[in-house]
Amino acid sequence: MTAAATRQDVEAALRGVVDPELGADIVELGMVRNVTVQGPVATIDIALTIAACPMRDQIESDVKRKVTALPGISEAVVHVVAMTPEQRADLMAVARRRAREGAAPTMVNPLTRVIAVGSGKGGVGKSSLSVNLAVAMQLAGFRVGLLDADIWGFSVPRMLGTSDRLEANADRKIVPIEAHGIQVVSTGLLVETEETALMWRGLMLSKALEQFLRDVAWDPDLDYLVVDMPPGTGDVQMALSRLLPQSEMVVVTTPQKAAQKVAARVADMARRSYMPVVGVIENMSGFTTEAGDHYDLFGVGGGEELANDLGVPLLGRVPLDPLVVSGGDDGSPVVVAHADAPSARAITAAMRRIVELVPPAEDETCTARIAVLMAALGDQAPGARP
Ligand SMILES: Nc1ncnc2c1ncn2[C@@H]1O[C@H](COP(=O)(O)OP(=O)(O)O)[C@@H](O)[C@H]1O
Ligand SMILES: [Mg+2]
Repeated sequence: MTAAATRQDVEAALRGVVDPELGADIVELGMVRNVTVQGPVATIDIALTIAACPMRDQIESDVKRKVTALPGISEAVVHVVAMTPEQRADLMAVARRRAREGAAPTMVNPLTRVIAVGSGKGGVGKSSLSVNLAVAMQLAGFRVGLLDADIWGFSVPRMLGTSDRLEANADRKIVPIEAHGIQVVSTGLLVETEETALMWRGLMLSKALEQFLRDVAWDPDLDYLVVDMPPGTGDVQMALSRLLPQSEMVVVTTPQKAAQKVAARVADMARRSYMPVVGVIENMSGFTTEAGDHYDLFGVGGGEELANDLGVPLLGRVPLDPLVVSGGDDGSPVVVAHADAPSARAITAAMRRIVELVPPAEDETCTARIAVLMAALGDQAPGARP
């Protein structure tokens, strides 16, 4: 049993909620007031710059998702209040200071939604799903990055059919390569000179991930960054939640009981590191022959049971399909090469559910209007600090 979350846990989780306009988390911006936890109910007062602000819904739903993902919390009551002019000025001062310091801990825009695809063990289809979900998002019109966080077990380059090599730009940042319209970074794309090989051999896995987030010139306009996780619950998962507090997780499992148990461990770990679980995808759910005979090779119901246990939606059931395998081997993801195949349709439907549950950050503004106003007022603005 995991201990029930405390007020401190709620506050820590709220650091993962980013104000879509100011690009800083709502705790740092002083928007979180009065957090109380009573039994399974957390009550949070959120002060917004303007109560009628268009991104209010998004902040509210992000807060609820983050908080109800905590162990022992089943309900989050959010009260929205409007800031006083003084509070708004303080908030803008924080936002300004941040902009001035400009030392972002990572090169990933805080407005980019981060979807980590994880599972308890290898071989359940994390990489196949990461690649196909990312490409399906791109086909739906989103700007998408794909980070292969399986540092030694990388398989993303082959699945996308790319043998390009990562290179550095003039600022000595690594530039992602482009494949199937998405931006990709993987250890499999590094130049294999002795020097880089040596450099990477010495790195801890969490350090490697850190480097991929810090030293890669990720497109600031990415709507989604999909992260293909290594199997299990290790360093990399901890590092991801620390470096990108906006991360959320999609858990992959097979219909098998055993797989479901190990997947539950990943979900538990995700929650303890304040990473909400968006939902479960059951992969390898049965096989249908061309003649229409159906075989449940790995059993039935594992995905649904896991989703119920975690209190999250089952995002989809992706059947076993040789086209997923050949697509992966040939670098032509099934959602592109065979968009009508049942496997591709299941993946695309799961992608739509994810986008519904974790919509791209709004660029509609209300604090931005204030920022413009404050800029026009220059340093005479109340609360502006030198
Ligand atoms: N739905 C599926 N149908 C058939 N084969 C699949 C399916 N999903 C994954 N595979 C295959 O299973 C193997 C493991 O998948 P992979 O995505 O590499 O898993 P992981 O990243 O979890 O280790 C690969 O050969 C892949 O082609
Ligand atoms: Mg993999």
